[in-house]
Amino acid sequence: MEPVSIKNILRGYIEINSTVIVQGWIRTKRNSKIGISFIVINDGSCLRNLQIIANTSLKNYTKDILLLTTGCAIKVFGNLKISPNNNQKYEIQAIEIKILGWIDNPKKYPISSKYHTTEYLREHLHLRPRTNLFSSITRIRHIVAQSIHKFMHKKGFYWIATPLITSIDTEGFSKMFCVSTLEVVHLSQKKNYGIKKFSKDFFGKKTFLTVSGQLAGESYACSLSKIYTFGPTFRAEHSNTRRHLSEFWMIEPEMAFATLNDIIELAKKLLQYIAKEIVIHAKDDIQFLFVNKHAKVHIYLHQLICEDFVHISYTEAINVLKKSQENFNNKILWGMNLNFEHECYLTEKYYNKPVIITDYPKDIKAFYMRCNNDLKTVAAMDILVPGIGEIIGGGQREERLDKLDKSLKNMGLEKNTYQWYRELRKYGTVPHSGFGLGLERLIMYVTGVKNIRDVIPFPRTFHNADF
Ligand code: 4AD
Ligand code: MG
Repeated sequence: MEPVSIKNILRGYIEINSTVIVQGWIRTKRNSKIGISFIVINDGSCLRNLQIIANTSLKNYTKDILLLTTGCAIKVFGNLKISPNNNQKYEIQAIEIKILGWIDNPKKYPISSKYHTTEYLREHLHLRPRTNLFSSITRIRHIVAQSIHKFMHKKGFYWIATPLITSIDTEGFSKMFCVSTLEVVHLSQKKNYGIKKFSKDFFGKKTFLTVSGQLAGESYACSLSKIYTFGPTFRAEHSNTRRHLSEFWMIEPEMAFATLNDIIELAKKLLQYIAKEIVIHAKDDIQFLFVNKHAKVHIYLHQLICEDFVHISYTEAINVLKKSQENFNNKILWGMNLNFEHECYLTEKYYNKPVIITDYPKDIKAFYMRCNNDLKTVAAMDILVPGIGEIIGGGQREERLDKLDKSLKNMGLEKNTYQWYRELRKYGTVPHSGFGLGLERLIMYVTGVKNIRDVIPFPRTFHNADF
């Protein structure tokens, strides 16, 4: 007989009184004085648990069942019944319970049934998925990933696997992780440090973990018209904040024959679609997060679904910030980068909704951004949301070779390094645009979880790569 998931039982897919096999980890267990044990198990298929009724008719009742504790893994063969208890619809009357895994010293089991802080759980990354909070986040993350693929496919985009190991810097000024098989001792000898040595390296040149799949994505967009990448990206910045990871996932749609406005529309529709899918497919998990102090979840999902976005230019954003009475750390000047405090002011205090900002000064954006007619700004866009700040960055790409070369030169970047990228402008160039959506920042937004380390299974941050 095939085991069934708790999710399918609770959905009512299994006939009442039929015999089933269920398996899972014990959340709680209570032994009554009259020889009955109530064992509540969870198998992670959904948020909710299933109660198992075990009594003295079981062969191993005294030897095993009475000794079971939170965290033990069991396999139950029993009858599915309607529960007389109002808190749950179904329960299993056990015929046989096999103990798959005991808890070695229950007093030391880190995930006891009491409340644990997220800080504490970060020290037990391998066991935290056994909590409701982390299993809920994980299921929502899955729904988000699936909905992204579904949406892009419906809209006619092809998924492209762009390389994680690269020899060029997509953004032009990123802090990248070097990929090398050279001996560390060799690397640290200053006199050997340089280009020459990298010719002896695995790839025969200096290589890095990519910060974005965009440039490679552009080459496929300039053939398949609509593509997207979806994979991990890496940044070696020392930003030890609650919204930065060194390894995070990005979705990067890239569209030929498209302008800035086209991708703004695409981004809005994508976010809206994801939010709707979450509401449909992760109802219980969202409800759980809502009642567990992440109370803004419903508001945030509503904001996305209602497409309640403000669209302003960078210059307008600067004017709003200048007029505010806030005590910002830096004086507001046209040309500056918007920091987190500015993003928070705009999204939380001034507009109180997601904000799209376009047309940034060219000096604070990457070399590939398309220069506007004023020659001072570029056709870039960022989407900022309350509580998180930037979740999307993108823009229209510079498709004119002379202007691209000028931009590379102004930014002090080597033309030869970007040779193949420049060729896309030589051979059948077209206007094209795209953006990058940070998966973890999006998950923070839709779950209300405050720290980015809690929305990825095994976070990598500065001085932290446990497990
Ligand atoms: O704005 P970014 O740097 O844009 C790019 O990389 C472009 N090449 C994307 C494109 O146009 N195809 O990054 C895009 C998004 C940000 O808006 C943010 O959501 C996320 O990636 N992001 C990070 N998320 C977590 N930790 C970090 N260190 C992040 N850096 C960027
Ligand atoms: Mg950005």
